[in-house]
Order: sequence, then C-alpha cells, then structure tokens
Amino acid sequence: MRFDVLTIFPAFFEGFLAYGIVRRACQRRQVGIGIHNLRDWTYDRHQVVDDRPYGGEDGMVLKPEPIFRAVEALTHRQPNPSVVLLTPQGRPFDQTVAQHLSRQSQVVLICGRYEGVDERVAEHLATEEISIGDYVLSGGEPAAMVVMDAVIRLLPEVLGNPTSAQKESFQAGRLDYPVYTRPAVYRGHAVPAELLTGNHAEIELWRRRAALRKTLRYRPDLLTDQTRLDETDRRLLTELLRANAAGQPMTCHSSS
Ligand code: 6GU
Repeated sequence: MRFDVLTIFPAFFEGFLAYGIVRRACQRRQVGIGIHNLRDWTYDRHQVVDDRPYGGEDGMVLKPEPIFRAVEALTHRQPNPSVVLLTPQGRPFDQTVAQHLSRQSQVVLICGRYEGVDERVAEHLATEEISIGDYVLSGGEPAAMVVMDAVIRLLPEVLGNPTSAQKESFQAGRLDYPVYTRPAVYRGHAVPAELLTGNHAEIELWRRRAALRKTLRYRPDLLTDQTRLDETDRRLLTELLRANAAGQPMTCHSSS
C-alpha cells in the first residue's frame, strides 16, 4: 500500500521514516511513503498556505486551493483513494479504523495546522476525518505518524510473525497481559510465580486473569461488550468482579 502525507513541516517525518519497522517496510517495498510539502502547491511568491477566518476569531486557517491541488495531483489515475483529514473534530482512530485503512491501496493524510482547515476540504475532498484522541495537538503531523505506524504493522509480511499483530490488545476485546523478563527478583519484587512453573495451562490462566484485571482498572469501557470475550475470559471476569465486590484487593500479582 501507499501513504502520501501533506504537511507544511515535512522534516517532522525524518525520524519516523529512519527507524524500526517503518524503515524496514519501506526498504522492502512493503509500503511506500511520500512526504509532500503543501507549499509546493502554492503559486504565489511567498507560498502562502493560510489566511484569516471569515467571521473573525483569532488564528489562521489553511486555505483550500493548495490542498485540493496537491490531493488531485497525488491521486490522479487512482480509482478510489482514501483521503483522510487529520483533525481533532474527526472520527476516533482505533484498531478497527487501522484495519480498514490497511486494506486500501492508497491513503492520503492531510495534516491540519493552526486553528483549522477550510471546511470545504472536509466536505468536498476528504473521504474521512480522523482524530487520534480527545486532546488537542498543534498539528496533525504526530497523528499522521500514529496512523501510519498502526496501519503498517497490520500489513501482511511486515511483522515477522503474521499472527502476532492479530494476537495483541484490542483485537481480543481487552488489554494485553503483563510480561516480565529476567531477573526473577528485582529490588525485592518477584516475577509472579505462575510464570516460572512451566505449566502452560496455569500460565495461560494467569495471563488472562492479569489482563482482565488491568482492563477492569484502566479500560472498564472495553468490558461492557462481553460478547467480545471468550467463555474462559467471561468466567474469569465474573470471578474478579465478585472478588472486587467482596472487597478483596485487586492487584496484578495476587492469585485469587
Ligand atoms: Cl488528528 N489533529 C490535531 N491537531 N489534534 C488532534 C488530533 C489530530 N487528534 C487528536 N488531537
């Protein structure tokens, strides 16, 4: 697949492209990433990309013309490109949206800036508006990197083990289980004994219980739809909720 990013700060992306999975996927031609300077599609001497908002208010708004010209140039002879405007006013980005994007052949990411982007971009050019969370960034560039990272690791063959992306958080309706490595005791804190037994059934049960505890603590919203959990998880969750109601402490290490 191919990403084309429209930004007024192309240098933002240098580090992102230079390391890790993204770099490797680009080298192996598993993904193509083009970073494009919005100013290249201005025709005036000062390469102006923004202007004052109609109706007053502070701040500047990205003008429509360079964005329309850029997207049209980048997507010509592409049957149905995804054109994503990154904005805090968008649809929340999650693993389901990442999976949807990973099936597209071309995704254009428009990084918003300043106080906003002329709304005609959202209405007549973008196919969707995406936000990466309920907070305000000064621009869409970090959001574009978040989206590309999440999507690229879903592409077949990008991760060494093709099932590992599937097994992770959210694809299972709960957070991932905690992991430990050596030393077995660090500053007096021991690795949970269950993980050292070599008993795979016991380890699996410990992991599920620990994952559900963490989910209950930090993301109880994920557990409202219990149909996303399997039979064992539902039973463990019921036990945990009973233990909580009975006032037992909810730590990740107690073996209830
Ligand atoms: Cl996509 N852009 C900006 N500027 N702020 C955000 C965002 C995007 N997502 C969350 N906050």
